[in-house]
Amino acid sequence: MVSGTGSNLAALLAAHDDPGYGARVVAVVADRRGIRALDIAAEAGIPTAVVSVKDFDDRAAWDAAVAETVSVFQPDLIVLAGFMKLFGATFLERFGGRIINTHPALLPAFPGAHGVRDALEYGAKVTGCTVMVVDEGIDTGPILAQAAVAVEPGDDETSLHERIKVVERSLLVEWVGRIARGGLTVDGRHAEVG
Ligand code: GRF
Repeated sequence: MVSGTGSNLAALLAAHDDPGYGARVVAVVADRRGIRALDIAAEAGIPTAVVSVKDFDDRAAWDAAVAETVSVFQPDLIVLAGFMKLFGATFLERFGGRIINTHPALLPAFPGAHGVRDALEYGAKVTGCTVMVVDEGIDTGPILAQAAVAVEPGDDETSLHERIKVVERSLLVEWVGRIARGGLTVDGRHAEVG
């Protein structure tokens, strides 16, 4: 699931043709039209769907529509690859425990939509990225994997985010493959693979 430029999606698509990888992207669902991620999916021949909040009366109706759309593709795992919306009860009840997200900070530090900017403004010397299981909170789910990235003198949000994204892409690709090959179990705050 995507909302933006789709570099994480592109990395997954680069990996998924290898049968040994264990996972295949069956569909790409976005919450908005006109984004690069949808072009990347289309160029790869992957089915796409857009479910936009503004096409629904309220957030609950959108949430139910996204759940319906996703269920059509019967995914074993839902990967939020730069998807910038929170799910509601309907989606989480249907797919909870098999949704993972990637976040560009070392959680629990700097959750939310501006994790890179917040780390920079705070003066952190090390930040990074986190792959986690999605729960009902904002970036609060059990952590699967993390990788650190140093903040360099002179970094701005763009330069730091670009360096984080290089690490983030390989971490996400690695852990999606591990889940596909080994299975994902969640016990309280602890998420394990294999
Ligand atoms: C990633 O850093 C993700 O963690 C954040 O937005 C970025 C998405 O990048 N939420 P892309 O769309 O995969 O290029």
